[in-house]
Amino acid sequence: MRLFIIPSLAILATVTSALPAAAPTTAKSTLENLQTAYNGESNAHATYLAYSEKAKSEGHQKVASLFAAAARSEEIHAANHAKVIRSMGAEPKAEVKKPQVASSKENLQAALKGESYERDTMYPDFLARARKDGNGDAIQTLNLARTAEIEHAKLYKQALAELESWKGATASFYVCPVCGWTSMTMPAERCPSSFTPKSRFLTVA
Ligand SMILES: [Fe+2]
Ligand SMILES: [Fe+2]
Repeated sequence: MRLFIIPSLAILATVTSALPAAAPTTAKSTLENLQTAYNGESNAHATYLAYSEKAKSEGHQKVASLFAAAARSEEIHAANHAKVIRSMGAEPKAEVKKPQVASSKENLQAALKGESYERDTMYPDFLARARKDGNGDAIQTLNLARTAEIEHAKLYKQALAELESWKGATASFYVCPVCGWTSMTMPAERCPSSFTPKSRFLTVA
């Protein structure tokens, strides 16, 4: 028997060493990825609400409105992911942690970092897996969320660059109720991401 076992182990060792050091995110199932995204969106919603309160207390009303609009958007993403999770026969699960709140500047930096990760790493990885699985509903909800995160990152970047001039200012932000796309200006006709008519947009001030 030993003669047969040794060559098998040698083959196994060769195969194992050819694998990447860290398991790629795509190794997880689309259902697991949706749960991770649901958890992330649920935590982002709670965190941005806390950041909004902090901004208000610092006299950063415009930043407070931006965080409130983004919080609404993340809530929409969580609800959209939850629908797909349920359609796959599972129950959405999130562990919402107590947000770590710092100064508004630091909160904006943390938010920009989180959005950039979702835009560049998390959602692209999850989308790759969903495409591999041919899961159309998952592709749609992940794609719509990613498109909104791109806008969130842009808005946080702008807020950081213009933080001093934003102080004392007020503004309304517009959120698509279907996909969470967020902007400082109302779209001309429809949401550029989900094509929802502008008449249905939410105004957050
Ligand atoms: Fe989101
Ligand atoms: Fe976001």
